[in-house]
Amino acid sequence: MKSNLGMRRSFLFMPATDRPKAEKAATIEVDVVVLDLEDGTALSRKEEARQTALTILKEIAFGNRLVMVRINDLRSPFWQDDLAAFSEKMPDGIVIAKTEASSEVEMVAAYIEEQEQKLGIELGRTKLFAVIESSKGLVSIREIAMCTQTFPRLSGLIFGAEDYAGSIGATRTKEGVEILFARSRVVMFAKAFGLDAIDTIYGNFKDLAGLEVETNLVKNLGFTGKLAIHPCQVPVIHQVLRPSEKEIEEARQLINAYKDHQKNGHGVFSWNGRMIDAPNIIQAEEIIIRANLL
Ligand code: COA
Ligand code: MG
Repeated sequence: MKSNLGMRRSFLFMPATDRPKAEKAATIEVDVVVLDLEDGTALSRKEEARQTALTILKEIAFGNRLVMVRINDLRSPFWQDDLAAFSEKMPDGIVIAKTEASSEVEMVAAYIEEQEQKLGIELGRTKLFAVIESSKGLVSIREIAMCTQTFPRLSGLIFGAEDYAGSIGATRTKEGVEILFARSRVVMFAKAFGLDAIDTIYGNFKDLAGLEVETNLVKNLGFTGKLAIHPCQVPVIHQVLRPSEKEIEEARQLINAYKDHQKNGHGVFSWNGRMIDAPNIIQAEEIIIRANLL
């Protein structure tokens, strides 16, 4: 098993037909490389994309980076052939586009389990991520997230803002007020079931200042990762999502102070002018967990 399965801050997408981009991705610091068989691949090139993705998996050394494949949604005529293309070699994970029902996760999970058995690889090694990007997906998100109890390979929920906005007839704005509820709902259900919460792309890839503002916003909402469409976005995402030295030091001090107060019989206490009790410690522990993983 790879050592960095916990490190999932950046997910860099590229069309699966584009081998040079995959080669580039193998040279940069990125946590997850996603070979896209869905919207990033033209309808006329689906089969070619599957074959190129398989060649990329076999021939390019990605080191510690995880390599995943985004398959077409389960209402499309493509998804079964997408999965079947990897019968000789499985990627580290499968990303399911436009997930709208728990049955979709179950079907893909069951298929992968069979595949892992056939290939004799460790059961559960191939992770699953569900993209939530429609009003129906957002309605069914509880059942989708709960699938992880039966299929622990389900590791995260990814929010897809553009398709979601289309599905509700919203107009996208820079501030994103129209997707705030959806973002928070994705985070809430991800965290309730111990899943990664991964935020949508920032489409204007030349605007790194705007990406930084947005990544800070979603970090504050509770997201632990963000999609990227261009290599230049990845360092910004890592820098924002990595807890700062100051945050880590404060979290350590807080946890120690809490332990001392607990020993002395106090569950709540005052610390640097703030009231501290159990929820603050959970937040501090989250920072330490993220820092240790990075
Ligand atoms: N992954 C890996 N490498 C990428 C990349 C990506 N997503 N996007 C660009 N690069 C590489 C290019 O291959 C190029 O490499 P080189 O310097 O070795 O030649 C370098 O980064 C600079 O690329 P640039 O010329 O700035 O970008 P572009 O104009 O060729 O492409 C996009 C712009 C948006 C078309 C491209 O970034 C892209 O395809 N992104 C992914 C889109 C996608 O998958 N969408 C669907 C899912 S949301
Ligand atoms: Mg899409």
